[in-house]
Amino acid sequence: MTGPRAEIGVIGGSGFYSFLDDVTEVTVGTPYGPPSDSLFVGTVGGREVAFLPRHGRDHRLPPHRINYRANLWALRALGARQVLGPCAVGGLRPEYGPGTLLIPDQLVDRTRSRVNTFFDGEPRPDGTRPKVVHVSLADPYCPAGRKAALAAAAGRGWDAVDGGAMCVIEGPRFSTRAESRWHAAQGWSVVGMTGHPEAALARELELCYTSLALVTDLDAGAEAGEGVSHAEVLAVFAQNVDRLRDVLFDVMAGLPAGDARDCECGAALAGQDPGIELPA
Ligand code: ADE
Repeated sequence: MTGPRAEIGVIGGSGFYSFLDDVTEVTVGTPYGPPSDSLFVGTVGGREVAFLPRHGRDHRLPPHRINYRANLWALRALGARQVLGPCAVGGLRPEYGPGTLLIPDQLVDRTRSRVNTFFDGEPRPDGTRPKVVHVSLADPYCPAGRKAALAAAAGRGWDAVDGGAMCVIEGPRFSTRAESRWHAAQGWSVVGMTGHPEAALARELELCYTSLALVTDLDAGAEAGEGVSHAEVLAVFAQNVDRLRDVLFDVMAGLPAGDARDCECGAALAGQDPGIELPA
């Protein structure tokens, strides 16, 4: 592929890149249809980074209608091997209130309508057909990326929570109080709507994926008030976007280059025949 390349991808809102002055807008087509939006490629601390607004720049896509496959494929096609996934979540414990940053180490999939694999045996538009493979998602997040994220947050004086399970619900509605209490009773830490299948698809493309979960609200079961509102989520995200961006930019500096990765993420398909070429 000619044109701009990027070694790091960030799936998140425009607040993370809109002020960079060297951004190039790139349209990337994929065998799975269009990604959520154009990709915005720019330089951060000397590293080429592609930013992709997960919900589209006008926030037109609800979580269950995001084309997660196209998003991950497009990032890999631009060259990314590291993907950072900042996202808004609700806290499931009273101590994880708004403004908490949590770097999850586990994921629980409570979605039900999403395409969650590239390797479905279905023919693609170019006539190629992926085979069925099964990747391990025992540890869904890249250990090196998590370490870099925790170090970057600490460097900015943000005492991020190291680990915890992110429960991903189908949405777009928030949880009932009973669902929320049940999620908390399982020992899960935060609840969001976009973390799956993003992490699983990243693993299938042998990408390093790191989630940075910003708590915007206490979920319904963890608070005594009216329950969560979208306005609250947006307001708290906006209050924290500058420091989250600072942390993201610092994380990038701490990520290994694609050919210097010493985690297992780049070998997720080892020993299996995917039947298709992953983008170079
Ligand atoms: N995103 C932000 N807050 C959330 C919550 N309470 N539940 C699910 N997704 C969220």
